[in-house]
Amino acid sequence: MTSHDPGGIGAGAEHDEPYRDTETNFDTGPRETDMPGGGLDEPVSVDVADVHPELADPDVVAEMVAPTRAVQADVGEPILRMQDVTLTFGGLTALDSVTFDIRRGEILGLIGPNGAGKTTCFNAMTGVYRPTSGNVLFDGAALGNRKRHQITQLGIARTFQNIRLFSEMTALENVVVGTDARHRTSVPGALLRSRRHRHEEREGMDRAMALLEFVGVGARATDKARNLSYGEQRRLEIARALATEPKLLCLDEPAAGFNPAEKESLMELIRHIRDDGYTVLLIEHDMRLVRGVTDRIVVLEFGRVIADGTPEQVTTNPAVIAAYLGVPDDATA
Ligand SMILES: Nc1ncnc2c1ncn2[C@@H]1O[C@H](COP(=O)(O)OP(=O)(O)O)[C@@H](O)[C@H]1O
Ligand SMILES: [Mg+2]
Repeated sequence: MTSHDPGGIGAGAEHDEPYRDTETNFDTGPRETDMPGGGLDEPVSVDVADVHPELADPDVVAEMVAPTRAVQADVGEPILRMQDVTLTFGGLTALDSVTFDIRRGEILGLIGPNGAGKTTCFNAMTGVYRPTSGNVLFDGAALGNRKRHQITQLGIARTFQNIRLFSEMTALENVVVGTDARHRTSVPGALLRSRRHRHEEREGMDRAMALLEFVGVGARATDKARNLSYGEQRRLEIARALATEPKLLCLDEPAAGFNPAEKESLMELIRHIRDDGYTVLLIEHDMRLVRGVTDRIVVLEFGRVIADGTPEQVTTNPAVIAAYLGVPDDATA
């Protein structure tokens, strides 16, 4: 954990992996100490009532949630390519020549037993770890040595297996942090509160509110993140990731710890996100759940791709069934 870690909110059936401290608390936006106004000490002040009324209209919400993103003409072209990616930790091969594509406009499921390398794939795609060999291509270009915030700006956003929120900030502020990752104002501009900065701040606030509505936690906008229910926190994390205006949204077990009804309603939200023109990579341990929502599925076992195809092809594949034998569908540990 970094020194300015506000304390992630761990909850539900999750566990802290021993290597968790190798990731920072939040890598899709600026550190809170970099934020205009100093972050936690001086929270962004918000008049929600001012923003709220027009959000009764779903078209207005949709426009704010996706202001610049046209549905791509080249739906189905690869947006991200894992090319022969190997990633080792000491003697352990977490990813072993992993090759697969994520196509624009699809929901790709990434499944596999615990320890198969799913989260490591995310980490390789978002610059947390660099492949030992092989390449990750995004929008046709290799990620190479790009840093995490640069990858965020290219258009990849993620949520974490263990929820990471600024627990003392309001729900709305947590999302505004994500919109900040997109803003163009320089730090001096922000300090001087330039006209553009004020405009961006305002815009960011409106968009953040719309995103909260979109994920279903609009009513909790002014509550501190730590006071939201576990399920609301998971949704809030998705809103924050969407705030960076990603082309690719990566969700790491977003339904972990949910009951079946909560899982179903989250899958509904994920379908809605895809229908809005985002590409989604969904890590999920529960094969039944992923079957209902994904367009294609890639299966990992011991760091290797053992299947890649439609949900139907994959879930009837004997190697996949064998990999899952003895693993209860809803085991999340
Ligand atoms: N930073 C790390 N250091 C050492 N081992 C790691 C690290 N990250 C992941 N691993 C190991 O890599 C393997 C894959 O882990 P992970 O990607 O978290 O699996 P999954 O998300 O599929 O459950 C596991 O054996 C895990 O212990
Ligand atoms: Mg994982």
